[in-house]
Amino acid sequence: MNQLNDIETSALQALESVTDEDALQAWKTAHIGRSSPLMQVFAGLGKLSKEEKPAVGQAANRVKLALESAFEARAQIIKDAALAKSLEEEQLDVTLPGRPAPRGRLHPSTVQLRRMLDILAEMGFQVYTSREVETDEFNFQFLNFPLHHPAREMQDSFYVETEGRGDNPILLRTHTSPGQIRAMRDAVAAAPDPANPPPIRIALPGMCYRYEQITARSEIQFNQVEGLAVGTNITFADLKGTLTDFARRMFGQGARVRFRADHFPFTEPSAEMDVECFVCGGKGCSVCKRSGWLEILGCGMVHPNVLMSGGYDPKRYTGFAFGMGPERQAMLRYRIEDIRYFWGNDVRFLEQF
Ligand code: DAH
Repeated sequence: MNQLNDIETSALQALESVTDEDALQAWKTAHIGRSSPLMQVFAGLGKLSKEEKPAVGQAANRVKLALESAFEARAQIIKDAALAKSLEEEQLDVTLPGRPAPRGRLHPSTVQLRRMLDILAEMGFQVYTSREVETDEFNFQFLNFPLHHPAREMQDSFYVETEGRGDNPILLRTHTSPGQIRAMRDAVAAAPDPANPPPIRIALPGMCYRYEQITARSEIQFNQVEGLAVGTNITFADLKGTLTDFARRMFGQGARVRFRADHFPFTEPSAEMDVECFVCGGKGCSVCKRSGWLEILGCGMVHPNVLMSGGYDPKRYTGFAFGMGPERQAMLRYRIEDIRYFWGNDVRFLEQF
């Protein structure tokens, strides 16, 4: 009986200093666990006499219940303390302003490119995407650039493979014009009668590459959007009408344009289209270099040799083509003074659009 009293006193005393879950579990094992002194008493009951057994058994049970309820009470205290502590530490002030997630946006080139394609789509031009890695034939020869012709020097190339390819090395396209040949050949191949291919009205967007000195005005990569219309009875008047309409949709219904004669190997005749400077209204400013006009695109009637390379008979078919640069138009529109900002990946620049 004395031993039971000691067991109870020392167990309750030990419980006083238990303040966390780990210590509580250790206490349970030590004081009411299977090999605790108290359980030893239960195990030893059999050795007692008939007279002693009920009293000791009852006392042991009382101690066991007392320790169990002390354990439950302590467990509750520890749980309440843990809850109070976490409420205190993880306090949340729902009135604080949130941290805004940085918002992504479209690159200015993409914005301008999509604007061009949207307008061209309204005008019936379907998008045709062509490859960025081309052969010399498609990038130059089929477009009426003769081999070794000085016109090629306007478009110095990045070569991908020259070994064993003679006059037909593989290069990164220097313009989107090779897509004209691919689109025409696709149309011929898909036509029920290859001698009578269907008319074409497409827009060719995409990245182009030139081996150039990088300066404020020229980059080694840039986008172009090319247009091509091929059919019967297409005239220079169609070209002028289409591009004038395009300029009005792009720069405003009041936009004035002018065409100047120019030269490209793949068009004849060729022209350059200017739009009246939308910064100064044609009076002359630094953006238009005092001329009152901004150069917007190159264009012309598709050269007979180019139609032929595409599989279209130049005796029956004619067409017009044009090519323009989204970065150049974005620069004019947003007064961006250095083309190097476009691929510089400086968020301070990109965030402005
Ligand atoms: N390919 C020309 C260049 O990159 C741009 C161009 C001019 C495209 C006249 C055309 C065109 O389709 O008719 O400089």
